[in-house]
Amino acid sequence: MNLDFSRVMPSLPYILEGIYITLQVVVLAALLGFSLGIILSLFKISTIKPLNWLADFYTSIFRGTPLVLQLMLIYFGSPQVFGIQIEPFTAAFLSFGLNSAAYISEIIRAGIMAVDKGQKEAAIALGVPYRKMMTDIILPQAMKNILPALMNEMITLTKESAVVTIIGLNDIMRRAYIVGGQSYRFFEPIMIAGLIYYILVMILTIAGKLVERRMRRSD
Ligand code: ARG
Repeated sequence: MNLDFSRVMPSLPYILEGIYITLQVVVLAALLGFSLGIILSLFKISTIKPLNWLADFYTSIFRGTPLVLQLMLIYFGSPQVFGIQIEPFTAAFLSFGLNSAAYISEIIRAGIMAVDKGQKEAAIALGVPYRKMMTDIILPQAMKNILPALMNEMITLTKESAVVTIIGLNDIMRRAYIVGGQSYRFFEPIMIAGLIYYILVMILTIAGKLVERRMRRSD
Protein backbone atom coordinates (compact mmCIF):
# COMPACT_ATOMS: atom_id res chain seq x y z
CA MET A 1 0.00 0.00 0.00
CA ASN A 2 1.32 3.37 -0.97
CA LEU A 3 0.13 5.79 1.68
CA ASP A 4 2.18 8.70 2.92
CA PHE A 5 0.42 10.84 5.49
CA SER A 6 3.60 12.79 6.26
CA ARG A 7 3.09 14.77 3.04
CA VAL A 8 -0.34 16.02 4.09
CA MET A 9 0.10 16.30 7.86
CA PRO A 10 1.42 19.90 7.67
CA SER A 11 -1.92 20.79 6.05
CA LEU A 12 -4.00 19.17 8.77
CA PRO A 13 -4.72 22.46 10.60
CA TYR A 14 -5.88 23.93 7.28
CA ILE A 15 -8.36 21.08 6.78
CA LEU A 16 -9.49 21.26 10.41
CA GLU A 17 -10.34 24.95 10.02
CA GLY A 18 -12.99 23.84 7.57
CA ILE A 19 -14.95 22.37 10.48
CA TYR A 20 -15.82 25.89 11.55
CA ILE A 21 -17.28 26.73 8.13
CA THR A 22 -19.09 23.42 7.78
CA LEU A 23 -20.65 23.82 11.23
CA GLN A 24 -21.72 27.39 10.54
CA VAL A 25 -23.52 26.30 7.36
CA VAL A 26 -25.14 23.36 9.14
CA VAL A 27 -26.31 25.30 12.20
CA LEU A 28 -27.76 28.21 10.21
CA ALA A 29 -29.39 25.83 7.72
CA ALA A 30 -30.87 23.78 10.56
CA LEU A 31 -32.30 26.89 12.23
CA LEU A 32 -33.80 28.12 8.97
CA GLY A 33 -35.04 24.65 8.06
CA PHE A 34 -36.61 24.09 11.43
CA SER A 35 -38.38 27.46 11.65
CA LEU A 36 -39.69 27.25 8.10
CA GLY A 37 -40.45 23.56 8.60
CA ILE A 38 -42.73 24.29 11.57
CA ILE A 39 -44.62 26.94 9.58
CA LEU A 40 -44.98 24.62 6.59
CA SER A 41 -46.17 21.73 8.75
CA LEU A 42 -48.85 23.97 10.30
CA PHE A 43 -49.88 24.99 6.78
CA LYS A 44 -50.12 21.33 5.84
CA ILE A 45 -52.48 20.43 8.66
CA SER A 46 -54.50 23.63 8.32
CA THR A 47 -58.14 23.47 7.28
CA ILE A 48 -57.48 26.34 4.85
CA LYS A 49 -56.96 24.59 1.53
CA PRO A 50 -54.72 27.19 -0.20
CA LEU A 51 -52.28 26.89 2.70
CA ASN A 52 -52.18 23.10 2.18
CA TRP A 53 -51.52 23.60 -1.51
CA LEU A 54 -48.81 26.17 -0.92
CA ALA A 55 -46.93 23.97 1.56
CA ASP A 56 -47.33 20.86 -0.60
CA PHE A 57 -46.09 22.76 -3.63
CA TYR A 58 -43.09 24.02 -1.70
CA THR A 59 -42.23 20.50 -0.57
CA SER A 60 -42.68 19.07 -4.06
CA ILE A 61 -40.19 21.56 -5.51
CA PHE A 62 -37.50 21.30 -2.84
CA ARG A 63 -37.81 17.56 -2.41
CA GLY A 64 -38.32 16.91 -6.09
CA THR A 65 -35.06 18.38 -7.37
CA PRO A 66 -31.49 17.65 -6.31
CA LEU A 67 -30.07 19.80 -3.54
CA VAL A 68 -26.91 20.38 -5.55
CA LEU A 69 -29.07 21.86 -8.32
CA GLN A 70 -30.84 24.19 -5.87
CA LEU A 71 -27.46 25.31 -4.59
CA MET A 72 -26.31 26.05 -8.14
CA LEU A 73 -29.52 27.91 -8.98
CA ILE A 74 -29.22 30.14 -5.94
CA TYR A 75 -25.51 30.80 -6.32
CA PHE A 76 -24.95 30.92 -10.07
CA GLY A 77 -28.49 31.88 -11.06
CA SER A 78 -29.26 34.82 -8.80
CA PRO A 79 -26.91 37.32 -10.50
CA GLN A 80 -28.70 36.69 -13.79
CA VAL A 81 -32.25 36.70 -12.43
CA PHE A 82 -32.06 39.20 -9.57
CA GLY A 83 -28.91 41.06 -10.52
CA ILE A 84 -27.23 40.33 -7.19
CA GLN A 85 -24.22 38.18 -6.45
CA ILE A 86 -24.78 36.26 -3.23
CA GLU A 87 -21.79 35.20 -1.13
CA PRO A 88 -21.05 31.46 -1.32
CA PHE A 89 -21.72 31.16 2.40
CA THR A 90 -25.14 32.79 2.13
CA ALA A 91 -26.07 30.70 -0.89
CA ALA A 92 -24.97 27.59 0.98
CA PHE A 93 -27.01 28.03 4.15
CA LEU A 94 -30.00 29.39 2.22
CA SER A 95 -30.21 26.43 -0.14
CA PHE A 96 -29.58 23.91 2.63
CA GLY A 97 -32.09 25.58 4.93
CA LEU A 98 -34.79 25.88 2.26
CA ASN A 99 -34.22 22.27 1.19
CA SER A 100 -34.23 20.99 4.73
CA ALA A 101 -37.48 22.83 5.52
CA ALA A 102 -39.25 20.60 2.99
CA TYR A 103 -38.08 17.46 4.79
CA ILE A 104 -38.53 18.85 8.29
CA SER A 105 -42.10 19.96 7.53
CA GLU A 106 -42.98 16.34 6.75
CA ILE A 107 -41.25 15.10 9.89
CA ILE A 108 -43.13 17.59 12.07
CA ARG A 109 -46.41 16.92 10.30
CA ALA A 110 -46.00 13.22 11.05
CA GLY A 111 -45.19 14.06 14.67
CA ILE A 112 -48.26 16.24 15.06
CA MET A 113 -50.52 13.60 13.54
CA ALA A 114 -49.11 10.99 15.91
CA VAL A 115 -50.22 12.98 18.96
CA ASP A 116 -53.40 11.40 20.29
CA LYS A 117 -56.38 13.33 18.97
CA GLY A 118 -57.91 13.32 22.45
CA GLN A 119 -55.31 15.96 23.34
CA LYS A 120 -56.69 18.31 20.73
CA GLU A 121 -60.29 17.53 21.64
CA ALA A 122 -59.60 18.16 25.31
CA ALA A 123 -57.87 21.46 24.53
CA ILE A 124 -60.78 22.59 22.37
CA ALA A 125 -63.29 21.47 25.02
CA LEU A 126 -61.40 23.52 27.61
CA GLY A 127 -61.47 26.54 25.32
CA VAL A 128 -57.70 26.71 24.80
CA PRO A 129 -57.02 29.02 21.82
CA TYR A 130 -55.44 27.40 18.71
CA ARG A 131 -52.04 29.06 19.05
CA LYS A 132 -51.71 28.12 22.72
CA MET A 133 -52.93 24.60 22.06
CA MET A 134 -50.24 24.17 19.41
CA THR A 135 -47.33 25.74 21.29
CA ASP A 136 -48.12 24.38 24.77
CA ILE A 137 -49.82 21.05 24.14
CA ILE A 138 -49.44 19.53 20.67
CA LEU A 139 -45.96 20.64 19.49
CA PRO A 140 -44.07 19.71 22.69
CA GLN A 141 -45.48 16.18 22.50
CA ALA A 142 -44.80 15.98 18.77
CA MET A 143 -41.17 17.11 19.28
CA LYS A 144 -40.46 14.28 21.66
CA ASN A 145 -41.58 11.69 19.13
CA ILE A 146 -39.75 13.16 16.18
CA LEU A 147 -36.41 13.74 17.87
CA PRO A 148 -34.73 10.71 16.22
CA ALA A 149 -36.01 11.82 12.81
CA LEU A 150 -34.76 15.37 13.39
CA MET A 151 -31.40 13.95 14.41
CA ASN A 152 -31.30 12.07 11.12
CA GLU A 153 -31.94 15.33 9.32
CA MET A 154 -29.06 17.02 11.17
CA ILE A 155 -26.76 14.18 10.16
CA THR A 156 -27.90 14.41 6.53
CA LEU A 157 -27.28 18.17 6.58
CA THR A 158 -23.80 17.72 8.02
CA LYS A 159 -22.72 15.26 5.35
CA GLU A 160 -24.57 16.87 2.44
CA SER A 161 -22.88 20.16 3.30
CA ALA A 162 -19.84 18.73 1.51
CA VAL A 163 -21.44 19.71 -1.82
CA VAL A 164 -20.82 23.40 -1.05
CA THR A 165 -17.39 22.61 -2.46
CA ILE A 166 -18.80 23.22 -5.94
CA ILE A 167 -19.50 26.89 -5.25
CA GLY A 168 -16.04 27.41 -3.79
CA LEU A 169 -16.86 27.57 -0.10
CA ASN A 170 -13.82 26.46 1.88
CA ASP A 171 -15.47 23.77 3.96
CA ILE A 172 -13.81 20.54 5.15
CA MET A 173 -14.31 18.78 1.82
CA ARG A 174 -12.95 21.53 -0.37
CA ARG A 175 -9.93 22.02 1.83
CA ALA A 176 -9.16 18.30 1.59
CA TYR A 177 -9.49 18.57 -2.17
CA ILE A 178 -7.17 21.59 -2.30
CA VAL A 179 -4.57 19.82 -0.18
CA GLY A 180 -4.84 16.87 -2.58
CA GLY A 181 -4.14 19.17 -5.50
CA GLN A 182 -1.14 20.75 -3.83
CA SER A 183 0.47 17.55 -2.59
CA TYR A 184 -0.55 15.26 -5.45
CA ARG A 185 -1.85 13.00 -2.71
CA PHE A 186 -5.60 12.61 -2.87
CA PHE A 187 -6.31 9.52 -0.84
CA GLU A 188 -4.83 10.79 2.40
CA PRO A 189 -6.55 14.22 2.69
CA ILE A 190 -9.88 12.74 1.65
CA MET A 191 -9.48 10.03 4.28
CA ILE A 192 -8.82 12.76 6.84
CA ALA A 193 -11.95 14.61 5.72
CA GLY A 194 -13.92 11.38 6.00
CA LEU A 195 -12.71 10.85 9.53
CA ILE A 196 -13.67 14.42 10.49
CA TYR A 197 -17.21 13.98 9.11
CA TYR A 198 -17.49 10.65 10.90
CA ILE A 199 -16.47 12.18 14.23
CA LEU A 200 -18.90 15.09 13.74
CA VAL A 201 -21.72 12.65 13.06
CA MET A 202 -20.78 10.56 16.10
CA ILE A 203 -20.88 13.67 18.30
CA LEU A 204 -24.31 14.53 16.91
CA THR A 205 -25.50 10.99 17.53
CA ILE A 206 -24.37 11.03 21.14
CA ALA A 207 -25.84 14.49 21.73
CA GLY A 208 -29.14 13.31 20.24
CA LYS A 209 -29.21 10.26 22.51
CA LEU A 210 -28.58 12.43 25.57
CA VAL A 211 -31.38 14.84 24.69
CA GLU A 212 -33.70 11.91 24.00
CA ARG A 213 -32.92 10.30 27.33
CA ARG A 214 -33.52 13.56 29.16
CA MET A 215 -36.87 14.00 27.44
CA ARG A 216 -37.94 10.45 28.31
CA ARG A 217 -37.05 11.05 31.92
CA SER A 218 -39.68 13.77 32.14
CA ASP A 219 -42.37 11.24 31.10
N1 ARG B 1 -28.74 14.32 -2.15
C1 ARG B 1 -30.08 14.59 -1.79
C2 ARG B 1 -30.71 15.49 -2.82
O1 ARG B 1 -29.99 15.99 -3.64
C3 ARG B 1 -30.05 15.19 -0.43
C4 ARG B 1 -31.26 15.85 0.05
C5 ARG B 1 -31.13 16.41 1.40
N2 ARG B 1 -31.88 15.63 2.28
C6 ARG B 1 -32.36 16.07 3.43
N3 ARG B 1 -32.99 15.25 4.18
N4 ARG B 1 -32.24 17.32 3.76
O2 ARG B 1 -31.88 15.70 -2.94
